Amino acid sequence: MKIKSVSCSPIEGQLPGTSGLRKKTRVFMAPGYLENFIQATFDAIGGGQDKTLIVGGDGRFFNRDAIQTILKMAAANGVTKVIVGQDGILSTPAASHLIRLNNAEGGFILSASHNPGGIDEDFGVKFNGQNGGPAPESLTDLIFEATKNITQYQIVDVDDVDLASIVTSYIGGMSVQIVDPVESYETLMQTLFDFDAIRGLFESGFTMCFDAMHAVTGPYATAILEGSLGAAPGTVVNGTPLEDFGKGHPDPNPIWAKTLMDLMMSDAAPDLGAASDGDGDRNMIVGRGIYVTPSDSLAVLAANAHLAPAYAGGLAGIARSMPTSAASDRVAQKLGIGLYETPTGWKFFGNLLDAGKVTICGEESAGTGSDHVREKDGLWAVLLWLNILAVRKQSVSEIVTDHWATYGRDYYSRFDYEAIATEKANALMSDLRARITGLSGQTVAGLTVASADEFSYDDPVDGSVSENQGVRIAFTGGGRAVFRLSGTGTQGATLRLYLEQYADQTGDLTRATQDALQKVRDAALAISKMQDMIGRTTPDVIS
Ligand code: G1P
Ligand code: ZN
Repeated sequence: MKIKSVSCSPIEGQLPGTSGLRKKTRVFMAPGYLENFIQATFDAIGGGQDKTLIVGGDGRFFNRDAIQTILKMAAANGVTKVIVGQDGILSTPAASHLIRLNNAEGGFILSASHNPGGIDEDFGVKFNGQNGGPAPESLTDLIFEATKNITQYQIVDVDDVDLASIVTSYIGGMSVQIVDPVESYETLMQTLFDFDAIRGLFESGFTMCFDAMHAVTGPYATAILEGSLGAAPGTVVNGTPLEDFGKGHPDPNPIWAKTLMDLMMSDAAPDLGAASDGDGDRNMIVGRGIYVTPSDSLAVLAANAHLAPAYAGGLAGIARSMPTSAASDRVAQKLGIGLYETPTGWKFFGNLLDAGKVTICGEESAGTGSDHVREKDGLWAVLLWLNILAVRKQSVSEIVTDHWATYGRDYYSRFDYEAIATEKANALMSDLRARITGLSGQTVAGLTVASADEFSYDDPVDGSVSENQGVRIAFTGGGRAVFRLSGTGTQGATLRLYLEQYADQTGDLTRATQDALQKVRDAALAISKMQDMIGRTTPDVIS
């Protein structure tokens, strides 16, 4: 086996502090680009000697080519063993599980999550560490520095590995074990949930539609829901992963999963609708005639988790990202457990989970998960819902309505302003920051500001501080607006405005969301001078 050193140039565009790279696919296909990031990662983790790695992706265009490159570079960097999902397929949560199960050093996950796939769409790669979660900032900083400084990468010149057969082969001294992508993951799910109860639910005539959006959860959902749990054939739709996701946008929200939403709002609706994203970490839950916001879903799951075997002993605590609604705070308070508010992004949950401070975490962007892996997990959320539905023998709508009657309702919506000129987006944020301390007590558009600050997070586990995590403005009467810039956009800047309004148990719990949020929205637009700063107030996406 001959190891070649190939010259490469520094790469642009990895954001410091992010655990991976997300770019147009053609950028990744340029000679040396992917290779630079992979070599930088090997350099940052101190080489590949004596290390086991997990490799897989969401099946999008370039997935298999990227895996071949990674395997050849892993062999050149001295890696001992690589475990790869068959056909290159591994959902993000399944990859996280395999890292933990095999005590691996980490894993490369190929995905641009919910972004479209194809030669003219997006591709991505990220490195997860030993705990199965996104690499911590200390490591991503090292990778980032290395991407700017490396001049060559190591690769071996061998034939491609057969990814289709479940066998172990060798590149030099490195073994490449191809595994069924679903098997270990399903075994883990069986330890968490009452499969017999869920099977009974389906036997009793319960119906469901799971939209895999032509992305990675197709094989997982088909094997688990239709295969093991006895859901009717055809329960999983769009279940074959396609390189371009059927030209769709594999993001499980009411906009991109519109066909499912339309079905769930129609007379033909099954009892439960669910969807997951490109790499299987996000989820959407819809009952017959009722969409469950991700913030509400987190709260309902936390309040009912004890009904599933893995959580029967109770939860250690709940964590939610700062822009996620306060619905789960109310559950934590009632349960008498800790509630942690973290910056946006799953990596902040990792320390809390590792330290045993929390059991369940979630984000308003449709990510929910628990301490079973170190990533959010779309199918896990769906199975926990099914377990709860099986035990409570009520509809989604009854469970959500009952939740609001117990805790009150947090009306919630997110507005996204996409592809804004970066200078304008930055100017809006700095202008807000400059005025923030003077906002308290001011009345704008009929609402009084109770408090305003920029969120900064002191990690209670490792003491690290993450500043500038979004401007939050609380209003008297239970309203809140949050402004932050997206860290995952690929074009210009994306400004996110998160709106919420609490109505207590005695309030009107049946209003239309945007009506309930009107005052908060008007005040937020006025305070930020949105029209003046970015030239518009109408968002591209409302979710
Ligand atoms: C978005 C979501 C965030 C999520 C991330 C990765 O990040 O808002 O909750 O963790 O995608 O899926 P953003 O673009 O807002 O930085
Ligand atoms: Zn994802």
